[in-house]
Amino acid sequence: MKKIFYLTMGMGAALLLASISLPKQDAAKDSIDQKVETLLAKMTLEEKVGQMNQYNGFYDATGPAPSEGNAKNKFEHLKKGWVGSVLNVRGAKEVRELQKMVVEESRLGIPLIFGLDVIHGHKTLAPIPLGEAASWDLEAIRKSARMAAVEASAVGINWTFGPMVDISRDARWGRVMEGAGEDPYLGAKIGVARVKGFQGDDLAANNTIAACAKHFAGYGFAEAGRDYNTVDVGTSTLYNVILPPFKAAVQQGDVKTVMNAFNILNGIPATGNAFLQREILKEKWGFDGFVVSDWGSIMEMIPHGFAADLKEAAMHAANAGSDMDMESYGYLKHLVDLVKEGKVTEDKIDDAVRRILKVKYELGLFNNPYLYCDEAREKEMLYHADHYEDALDMARKSIVLLKNNPASNKSKLLPFEKGKKIAVIGALADDKTSPLGSWRIGSDDGTAVSVLEGLKEYTDFTYAKGANVALGAPEFQQQVDINTTDKSGFGEAVALAKKSETVVMVLGEHGFMSGEGRSRTDIGLPGVQQELLEAVYAVNKNIVLVLMNGRPLALPWAAEHVPAIVETWHLGTQSGHAIAQVLFGDYNPSGKLPMSFPRSVGQCPIYYNHYSTGRPDEEAFVFWSHYIDESNDPMYAFGHGLSYTDFEYSDFKIDDTNPAEIKVSVVVKNKGKVAGEEVSQLYIHDKVASVARPVKELKGFEKYSLESQESKIITFTLTEAELGFYDNQGKFIVEPGMFDIMVGTSSIKGLSGSFELK
Ligand code: BGC
Repeated sequence: MKKIFYLTMGMGAALLLASISLPKQDAAKDSIDQKVETLLAKMTLEEKVGQMNQYNGFYDATGPAPSEGNAKNKFEHLKKGWVGSVLNVRGAKEVRELQKMVVEESRLGIPLIFGLDVIHGHKTLAPIPLGEAASWDLEAIRKSARMAAVEASAVGINWTFGPMVDISRDARWGRVMEGAGEDPYLGAKIGVARVKGFQGDDLAANNTIAACAKHFAGYGFAEAGRDYNTVDVGTSTLYNVILPPFKAAVQQGDVKTVMNAFNILNGIPATGNAFLQREILKEKWGFDGFVVSDWGSIMEMIPHGFAADLKEAAMHAANAGSDMDMESYGYLKHLVDLVKEGKVTEDKIDDAVRRILKVKYELGLFNNPYLYCDEAREKEMLYHADHYEDALDMARKSIVLLKNNPASNKSKLLPFEKGKKIAVIGALADDKTSPLGSWRIGSDDGTAVSVLEGLKEYTDFTYAKGANVALGAPEFQQQVDINTTDKSGFGEAVALAKKSETVVMVLGEHGFMSGEGRSRTDIGLPGVQQELLEAVYAVNKNIVLVLMNGRPLALPWAAEHVPAIVETWHLGTQSGHAIAQVLFGDYNPSGKLPMSFPRSVGQCPIYYNHYSTGRPDEEAFVFWSHYIDESNDPMYAFGHGLSYTDFEYSDFKIDDTNPAEIKVSVVVKNKGKVAGEEVSQLYIHDKVASVARPVKELKGFEKYSLESQESKIITFTLTEAELGFYDNQGKFIVEPGMFDIMVGTSSIKGLSGSFELK
């Protein structure tokens, strides 16, 4: 049913585009602008400030619980028109009740906008965003966000706080699970795909929701990967790495909202940062939606040492272009006085309110405030059968085959033949909650297909838990009981491994060990899992290690010893099915890492697109840029991912006859016996520039499938957009000179050549 619906939506939009001429579109915009002006003219200053105020709902808290959060007070505020938005309310019925109170009892009846962190699905869960990014499949990612929007909009939600488009290079940071990894080019494409999935073709439809690009800006660069920590980045990194995914979300995705961030940037908190929010976002990029603060980030400017008290914090935030206050209570308390005292102009208030009202009009809330409150649709859409299909497809595509070496009988361990007898070890194999991952507010515990359940459809197997991995950890528990020292299950696991030919070990992090506030300094296997792995290996080397984790892990021992390693992240509802299909070859893995996997936590932050140092090359003595106890290289590089077939690259060509469109091509052949999907990646290196450029930068990729023995010419086009960069004033420039180009199967393996841009 839903698929047909999607199709008609798509075709409808195409027809609409074909038949509507530009002036009519302008007319629609004009008419919303006019309505906004008419409404604004009727509003008192108190009512305007009310639109800028967002309250937490009465069910969940996704930040420090607000001390002043009192439902009764809030009902009064709702009726007075002092609330523009509520977050964390769930269910068509609950949303309808609050909406009704506001629409019927407040003076102007301006509908609320209901926000929620819908990050990788609502009830039916897709993989965590970092996992999805490993698919490099923009259409699948768009569809996944669409699925999330369809379910979330059915429970009354019309605004998600996603996608997170923060680039991050530090696996210690728990929130890497929520983004698209370390690369701004891939991150920008994925961010746009997610925005388009959430917002759909028609924002006023009842199954599309406003998206929110977050956290503007720099939050992914928290020092030492400790969440909420100081950010200290150079200008070149800001312009070339941090900002591009936000710019793309605004200009290519038409994202309706942006969330600012907890961190400081050059000593100025992002929330009170006019350079970021007014100058770059609103003026330079022409963003015409609204900016919401992060949870309590206005009041957090006090401990930052940037504001003396809440009133001053509210003044800084409003002046800097933070349009809506999430959970600081600063705007409602102080903005009216600040305007009266001349510390914030009413023009600035009007600008913020215009933006908020505009998005509400665009969502269709003024036509029908209950558009998203349909209990029948809610019942029909949650866990819809089609969503299981979409989630399975996304889950399979997110799996990365890290290693598949010959085992003791000299043949590759994977894929297994159908019916092959295996032993399974590891508590995560039997877990129906952890694979759902972090950031899953709407979901139900125990709803993931476990690995054991998935495997049942392929073979008989034997199972031993081996060691505890925090089974059944409660939602929002900060310290998951994963560091158990209990080895009482080792004996059974080792005995089982001894008598089995092949062992699948399912090890990793519990789903709640990553996400907000879950930074780690040790990114190995938690608890006694490493010891369990080594104990099993001592009796049986034929191990397939299935990893579940929300961040890159440092597993040098496993990478050296274990013959096959499959990275499965936290794959969501369909976890076990996707993993079983890959292990038994019903799906040929095609994922590629969106983040480098370090050899040691001491290498973090580690990323492929680093600069060269002045001493990059190995010298006889110690005076070159290196560690004395570890290699500089990652364990698994950005873009790495194997397949059950082999792809051969040949015929690398650069055609630079037209400098405006440099063509780079390769021939790729599937040399193996089975069909497979490959992601060909193009990297550039601008060799000499007025601002030094990274040693490699992804500037193109294409995902396609090839039958056994089939070849394909893959052609990339490089224009100024790919060859240029931002200088330290934020100006995009293209400089002539030599460029190295590489096209390959990962960031470290491919064919290369050079050309001169004239
Ligand atoms: C997070 C945001 C999130 C917000 C609302 C904050 O703590 O940083 O990403 O959207 O809470 O839940």
